[in-house]
Amino acid sequence: MSEPSPIKSLKSLREAEEQCTRCPLYKHATQAVPGEGPARARIMMVGEQPGDQEDKQGKPFVGPAGGVLAKALEDAGIERNSVFVTNAVKHFKFEARGKRRLHKRPNAYEIDRCHWWLDLERRLVRPDIVVALGATAIRSVCGRPLTINKVRGHIMSLPDGGRMLATIHPSYILRIEDDADKRAQYKRFVADLKVCAKALAEAA
Ligand code: URA
Repeated sequence: MSEPSPIKSLKSLREAEEQCTRCPLYKHATQAVPGEGPARARIMMVGEQPGDQEDKQGKPFVGPAGGVLAKALEDAGIERNSVFVTNAVKHFKFEARGKRRLHKRPNAYEIDRCHWWLDLERRLVRPDIVVALGATAIRSVCGRPLTINKVRGHIMSLPDGGRMLATIHPSYILRIEDDADKRAQYKRFVADLKVCAKALAEAA
């Protein structure tokens, strides 16, 4: 986070992201999906990449994973509208199977190329805490891969002076078939988010 940037507002950032050709993902996606939320949000939530719905609507976390995230935020006592929500990768990566578009994980090159945008979002919003949702977000925010289960659920300091809380991606909960396990993992996800809410309340 050191080089000066010509981008001074979230509006100009959105316009610049829409022109992005920093990696090949722009070629097949409908549009870049910029981060969304208050310009001075205290929490920035970072997901992996837009899904099918997000790609079509141009907004982050409006599909099924977004539903889980919204409910978990409410259960953790965090106002959804107070949070800046974004993704580590701004274009949808997918594999076409007939009419369906199946989500594909972004690779290290795509994450690293897109880090440029996340860095600018962080510089503009300056959140107190960045919540990294899942492995891709953790890699982007920290600049290296970390094992979720070793780092989740507590506030960590970042080399640039920021603070991060790592947790799972909400789509992980959607994929669990066993009801009891699903409930337990959801509860743990909410508990992680409560750590963030508590840290903010203590800093206020
Ligand atoms: N999953 C993500 O990581 N981000 C979105 O915006 C939607 C689903």
